[in-house]
Amino acid sequence: MANEVIGTVLITEDEIKAKAVELGEIITNDFAGEEVILVGILRGSVPWMAELMKRINLSMKIDFMACSSYGADTKSSGQVKIVKDLEFDISGKNVIIVEDIVDSGLTLKYLKGYMEARNVGSVRICTLLDKPSRRKVDIHVDYSGFKVDDKFIVGYGLDYDQKYRNLPYITYLEEE
Ligand code: IMP
Ligand code: MG
Repeated sequence: MANEVIGTVLITEDEIKAKAVELGEIITNDFAGEEVILVGILRGSVPWMAELMKRINLSMKIDFMACSSYGADTKSSGQVKIVKDLEFDISGKNVIIVEDIVDSGLTLKYLKGYMEARNVGSVRICTLLDKPSRRKVDIHVDYSGFKVDDKFIVGYGLDYDQKYRNLPYITYLEEE
């Protein structure tokens, strides 16, 4: 995008906070009496993870992973490189992967497989946003905040060229 401009607000901060309360209650009920490890995928998940974790009333640890796709033109290859690995041993544990957005689904499909290979007890996915029109692989999203159209989304953790992560709402970019 040569000259990008920010579009209208799609989802406000208050709507995101209310969604964290709603999904936090569901997760609390689903795992009642158990311990969970929230695994945030850096960097986009950070604001959403911060909001969500406060609304889950369970014994909890948090960890982070960072991934990148191999090369620039391998979007559809499903090849994901782990840039920062887990610090906790997840074997036998309940993991909830926290993502900013599910697009093709390739990243999450890879991460789920990666965790299953480490004998995770259970692995579920909680995403702030879902762009179902762009899905390339079949992946079950357990907890989904908002569905978005096929636009380039920024804000509330989501970036374009590492910028706009700090916007306190969800919006999109357009060419000027
Ligand atoms: P997937 O593997 O195609 O599902 O890609 C997921 C990752 O791509 C997300 O975690 C985001 O980092 C990034 N991504 C996908 N769509 C967007 C978007 O509209 N805006 C910003 N980042 C996006
Ligand atoms: Mg991401």
